[in-house]
Amino acid sequence: MSVTTHAAPARGMNALGDLSEHIVRVLQNNGADISQLGVPPQPEPQDGLWEDVSVPQARARLNMWRNSIEDAAQNEYLAFRFSHLDDNQKPNTLRGWLDSLVEAKKLDARPTVLNMLMPGPIGSGKSAAACALGNEAAERGLWTLYVKHATYLTWRRPDSAPHNMKAWEVRKRFVECDLLVLDELCGEMDVTATEFARRETIDLIDARISAGRPTAYTTNLRSRRQPGSQAMGVVDILGERLLSRLESSAHLAKIVGPDRRKPAQPLDW
Ligand SMILES: Nc1ncnc2c1ncn2[C@@H]1O[C@H](COP(=O)(O)OP(=O)(O)OP(=O)(O)O)[C@@H](O)[C@H]1O
Ligand SMILES: [Mg+2]
Repeated sequence: MSVTTHAAPARGMNALGDLSEHIVRVLQNNGADISQLGVPPQPEPQDGLWEDVSVPQARARLNMWRNSIEDAAQNEYLAFRFSHLDDNQKPNTLRGWLDSLVEAKKLDARPTVLNMLMPGPIGSGKSAAACALGNEAAERGLWTLYVKHATYLTWRRPDSAPHNMKAWEVRKRFVECDLLVLDELCGEMDVTATEFARRETIDLIDARISAGRPTAYTTNLRSRRQPGSQAMGVVDILGERLLSRLESSAHLAKIVGPDRRKPAQPLDW
């Protein structure tokens, strides 16, 4: 029986007593009967799981991942999955690590191995591999975000982040997400990297390690300066103490191979 249509007060002026009596009856019947109110039924969700709050949450997290890739204008990487990677992009290492992260998240425990280091030469397929990891992680319900290191540093400057994000919100989201893909670690930096860049980088990485939140790093740099080479090492930015903390709980997935972007014939110009 419908409590809302039966003996509902007429439209227009009504005595207060009639209205409150009606409301009491509606409440006694646990609320209005929506089917009697002419409200069209909600469309059935495609996965039929609206009762489970984790489903819309997982969907929202997946969108946050996609938005972070779109903010970086890296949409082409959204298509990559482990199955698309070559052996030299270490898909099995990445898959095994992701399994361990999902398990740890379920148990609300600290992952046994916190970091994935993916060094390799230019164009070897590091970003594609790291984004395959991110795509699969986001689909498995981890709150995953992508950012290039240099972009993070830019966004940490006042009024520089997109979507009206404040600088503190930028830090908060990249420190707090379940898995961060930090692409091009120490890229576009040189030995004269500013104090700001150094401080912000150390703060982000240190905060994620302390909170037990996993991070995947890609970089064109070596960890340390090689004898006879002028090229900077990651240690020159992070410092020995933080680098060794980072390495102490890390898988190493070196991405080897030629530059995939190189034209077969070098351009003559
Ligand atoms: N397994 C793959 N199959 C097909 N194309 C791939 C694969 N991996 C990477 N690519 C393509 O190769 C190109 C280079 O890959 P990617 O951008 O991942 O390299 P990178 O190591 O991140 O380069 P950089 O050092 O410049 O950041 C991209 O256009 C990417 O789409
Ligand atoms: Mg890259």
